[in-house]
Amino acid sequence: MKVVAMTVVVAAGLLAAGVASASEELAKSSGCMTCHAVATKKMGPSFKDVAAKYKGKADAQAKIVAELKAGKGHPAVKSSDADTATLVKWILAM
Ligand code: HEC
Repeated sequence: MKVVAMTVVVAAGLLAAGVASASEELAKSSGCMTCHAVATKKMGPSFKDVAAKYKGKADAQAKIVAELKAGKGHPAVKSSDADTATLVKWILAM
């Protein structure tokens, strides 16, 4: 029984890690990482800072996706709408 529980925990951990790195790859291929890093400030704020700033704000996802798409106040992004939504979700979950 213990072994089964351990296996489930490990599998869930691997799954979460897989999702995180897939999003990070997407951020890289979308050019976000030219100006951003997960934990350090570059030209733009670190994604962890963004997550902290918007913590508890229910409309953050929609607001930021719209901002990135419009290319106003933020350099225009080349990612598709779906990719931008995925990226913002990933960032806000940090
Ligand atoms: C050319 C540089 C550059 C690129 C490329 C870039 N950003 Fe940014 N980003 C910035 C700067 C500068 C800011 C700070 C000004 C602002 O908030 O708009 C910022 C801010 C942000 C914020 C915080 C917005 C807020 O309202 O606080 C998010 C989220 C973000 N970027 C996500 C992304 C994502 C996702 C991508 C890739 C699809 C990306 N950025 C690509 C420069 C960049």
